[in-house]
Amino acid sequence: MANVYITRKIPAAGVDALIAAGHRVDSSVKDRVLSPDELTSALTAKQYDAVLCLLTDKITAELMEAAGPQVKIYANYAVGYDNIDMKAAKKLGKIVSNTPGVLTDAVAEHTVTLALAIMRRIVESDAFMRAGSYTAWAPELLLGSAVRGKTVGIVGLGRIGSRVAEILHHGFGMHVVYFDVQQNEEFEKSVNATFYKNLAELLPVCDLVSIHVPLLPATTHLFSDTQFALMKRTAYLVNTSRGPVIDEHALVRALSKGVITGAALDVFEREPVLTEGLGALQNVVVTPHTASATVEARAEMALMAARNIIAVLSGAPAPQQVPYPPEA
Ligand code: DGY
Repeated sequence: MANVYITRKIPAAGVDALIAAGHRVDSSVKDRVLSPDELTSALTAKQYDAVLCLLTDKITAELMEAAGPQVKIYANYAVGYDNIDMKAAKKLGKIVSNTPGVLTDAVAEHTVTLALAIMRRIVESDAFMRAGSYTAWAPELLLGSAVRGKTVGIVGLGRIGSRVAEILHHGFGMHVVYFDVQQNEEFEKSVNATFYKNLAELLPVCDLVSIHVPLLPATTHLFSDTQFALMKRTAYLVNTSRGPVIDEHALVRALSKGVITGAALDVFEREPVLTEGLGALQNVVVTPHTASATVEARAEMALMAARNIIAVLSGAPAPQQVPYPPEA
């Protein structure tokens, strides 16, 4: 029997699996993000063998050291793991796991929903109706953009980017172009996609750009004034990856000046705070980092995180262990 700490309430499937495996589980009683001090206090209150953490928890070298050498695994309840200092995890011999695959459909569906919402002006239309502004059908009322026949640019061709491309190609008749560090010929055949070796060449041909890269030093502010200026004035941008991939001050400028037509965001540079000016724009749709928020996906994520802990505590490898970064 081992001690497991869960930093916030998660779907019961994960907790039940840990208990069924014979582990003692403590969870934060506060259903909110813990401050760094609260997290340190929680993890030092007892000798924990495993921690199930969230993308909102900063798992730093100091925290891992404070939590003690007996903690074997930090199982992140997310596919992204930019909240964890992977270099420190490697140095301290901590296993880190994530939850790939089980949220792919949920995030891809949300991405497409955001694209349709901004291109067809759904949120503006909803506000218009609720304000009682609708007086009669009109030929040019709230005109949006067609989707069929347009070109979507996928930036980052992982599981989610590929799934978004499939839905938009097979379901909505979009042409697919993509940019990634690696070309994928099998994917190209499946959706008749064209590979671009660099972002600067891809952006001018896209009507819609969908971002699916992990947050790394190289992808921080991947989109700023220069990139917006390369996009069509009629183009839309969707981001369901990580907020800091976009320089949001530059995005506000681009959207206010008509450099691009619209943006739909599920993640934010200063999350949970909206960058000044963003919330006042009509040509923006925002959701609170809920792309993976389906009952099904969140339960699967909880179960997957728990299974990684159960495996490691039984002496087996974590099925979804995150690889350590290569030596600098
Ligand atoms: C993730 O898993 O990284 C998403 O951002 C939240 O589900």
